[in-house]
Amino acid sequence: MTATTPELSADEIADLETIACTLAREAGDLIVEERPDDLGVAATKSTQTDVVTVMDKRSEELLRTRLATARPGDGLLGEEGAAQPSRTGISWVVDPIDGTVNYLYQLPAYAVSVAACVGDVYTPGAWRPVAGAVLNPVTDELFHAGLGAGSFLDHRGRSTALQVSAQADLALSLLATGFGYDVDKRTRQAALVAELVPQVRDIRRAGSAALDLCSVAAGRLDGYYEAGLHPWDLAAGWLIVTEAGGLVQGPAGRAPTHELVVAGGADFVTQLAPMVDR
Ligand code: IPD
Repeated sequence: MTATTPELSADEIADLETIACTLAREAGDLIVEERPDDLGVAATKSTQTDVVTVMDKRSEELLRTRLATARPGDGLLGEEGAAQPSRTGISWVVDPIDGTVNYLYQLPAYAVSVAACVGDVYTPGAWRPVAGAVLNPVTDELFHAGLGAGSFLDHRGRSTALQVSAQADLALSLLATGFGYDVDKRTRQAALVAELVPQVRDIRRAGSAALDLCSVAAGRLDGYYEAGLHPWDLAAGWLIVTEAGGLVQGPAGRAPTHELVVAGGADFVTQLAPMVDR
């Protein structure tokens, strides 16, 4: 962490968590209620299959303007280009729609992810989340966490504390992963999946890294790994897993980065990480 990392009280963390939840809900309502019937691809990014819709942009703009009002001076890093340096030591890392391809195809596994982080969010390994929320607006499941305060799922008026799975037997484990958009990278990722499939119960590819991490936190998956994630895919989900008693790590046990993210119970991650760290 940088020298400017603020010491945050439990009340300050709770306030950041409340803002993350409120904004995730507001952006979630926007992307569901104002989705055009004829939604198409507005632009592409790293490859022709790495898409952006008009609603990714509108959702990020909503998050940007709300944060500028609620938390002036905080930094911002967003998937669709929002970039604001921090004057407070806190930066928000937001994914306005994680699982954009699912959103485009109307598959109900996409999310808004909002996290408050400390450190330098532009330098891999130099930041960490302190509060965050991930909303699946289709199922109306709101996953959220604050550092030291636990992880919770709010659904149908109930708030349930989350706990990662205790599964430590790889052969009985249900894993999830994802693929990058680059063809060479996904060819290597598919080869690794082919190696792992005979060694585990099964592997899922749901299409939203943020929701995969929340599923690990909720014990719906025993583990998750992926190479190529960006801070916005990862920030809120990382905290939601660790506050549910789990471990999220990157290459060689360091902090999770673009190179690698492995998540699950600590014993499980210890077994899985060497198999996927390459
Ligand atoms: C993608 C999703 C996907 C993961 C990709 C991400 P996006 O995010 O999280 O599950 O496999 O690596 O880029 O593009 O839908 O925001």
